[in-house]
Amino acid sequence: MTETATAPSRIVVLTSGGDAGGMNPAIRAVVRTAVHHGIEVYAVAEGYLGLIQGGDAIRPVDSADVGGILQRGGTILGTARSMEFRERDGRRRAARNLLELGIDALVVIGGEGSQGIASELSRYGVRAVGVPKTIDNDLWGCDQTFGFDTALTVATEALDRLHTTAASHDRVMVLEVMGRDAGWIALHSGLGGGADVILIPEIPFTVEAVASKILTREYRGSSFSIVICAEGAVEQGGGQLYQETTGTLGGIGAHVATQVGKVTGKDARVVVLGHVQRGGMPTPYDRILATRFGAAAVRVLAEGRYGEVVVSKGMEISTVRMSDCAGKVRTVPVEHEMIQTARGLGIAFGDEEDLDLTPEPLE
Ligand code: F6P
Repeated sequence: MTETATAPSRIVVLTSGGDAGGMNPAIRAVVRTAVHHGIEVYAVAEGYLGLIQGGDAIRPVDSADVGGILQRGGTILGTARSMEFRERDGRRRAARNLLELGIDALVVIGGEGSQGIASELSRYGVRAVGVPKTIDNDLWGCDQTFGFDTALTVATEALDRLHTTAASHDRVMVLEVMGRDAGWIALHSGLGGGADVILIPEIPFTVEAVASKILTREYRGSSFSIVICAEGAVEQGGGQLYQETTGTLGGIGAHVATQVGKVTGKDARVVVLGHVQRGGMPTPYDRILATRFGAAAVRVLAEGRYGEVVVSKGMEISTVRMSDCAGKVRTVPVEHEMIQTARGLGIAFGDEEDLDLTPEPLE
């Protein structure tokens, strides 16, 4: 719900959900912009969990407290996925803690789930504005979230490195990247890093189609192939794979490597990039985007608005209604221009067999 009220005099900021490159620059921007507007700022440790706990978990911060963090990965505030918040009692306790501290509004730096929780909190009288982050880049209504560019940079560099080792051994190298419901990381880094096959959740694949692309390349003189695979990619007629040991999403890369190796007779290896995509220094792009988002969130509150999430639309920053973001993800449209571009360049998505044995010049 977009609402208006008087500008807050005291706000609180928290980070929630999986970390992403740019969370610290966003915190820094929120704190410093608030100070600039004469608004007092508190920070919460460990996301919504800290909001429920109250006490030392919610403390005042000023500009000096957020010095030197622009380049730092992770979040200085800590983050958590709180189950207690899914219960009404947890939300009530959080609202009471904020009331006791005289806090008028909340800035939530988080993904779709965290924005949904913030939207729920408005029922308890807590005004909130959202700052979207997610490396998956799948927040509804937002062209680009921060964290994505950092992840994409890491994945593209991994593809560059895999090219030389794949070529040396005449192997198929499969890189599994993050992307639970949306294949943006795999699609972007696949294009930027020159993958031969891109597998994303939005386009179910067959092992035969992936193998046919590899064999076609072989016939044309390319004795190695690079496959990039989102962790949420699915085989036609199958479902997402989960790790036996941890129960977390993943394992599709190993499945593709094993099966494609069997069909093609080629040596195949898998590399799971995992949380490397989330850690480390944020890219300049993510630092700037996060800074713009954090500052914009405070400006929204200073105008007396709340119930909105700051988003990017093309080169501009605007807002969407928080309640509209909840429960929705922005997946890759299967007719997206980047998919067409990739197909036009001969990149396969594993949905069409590609046994075109016309001779072509060597790479
Ligand atoms: O939502 C972002 C994301 O990085 C997903 O791509 C991934 O499935 C998930 O977080 C893993 O999160 P964690 O290991 O922190 O639970």
